[in-house]
Amino acid sequence: MSDIKITIIDREGVSHEVDAPTDMNMNIMELVRAYELAPEGTIGVCGGMAMCASCQCYILTPETDLPEMNPDEDAMLAEAFNVKDNSRLGCQLHLSEEMNGLKIELAPEY
Ligand code: FES
Repeated sequence: MSDIKITIIDREGVSHEVDAPTDMNMNIMELVRAYELAPEGTIGVCGGMAMCASCQCYILTPETDLPEMNPDEDAMLAEAFNVKDNSRLGCQLHLSEEMNGLKIELAPEY
């Protein structure tokens, strides 16, 4: 299994292309934390339970094949701030080879 490339635009608008492992059962929220692209305590607050929306991100490559939203993610995004049509919760997106080339932008902190 090999790494994939994911581009993450941080909350300052800086773009980072990072290598993401697909064999560690990691999700996008954990990836952002691993590369320290958001300050500690501002992302992943609920630990990846789809209960805080601190990991909200915008999907900039609609062509990327992402898993369908589960009901928990859908419900959380219905209550979150700054939600757009392309919003997803990073903690619900587990890294997979289909995500190679994915580009996301972190939603503002609130
Ligand atoms: S980390 Fe809380 S919803 Fe994703």
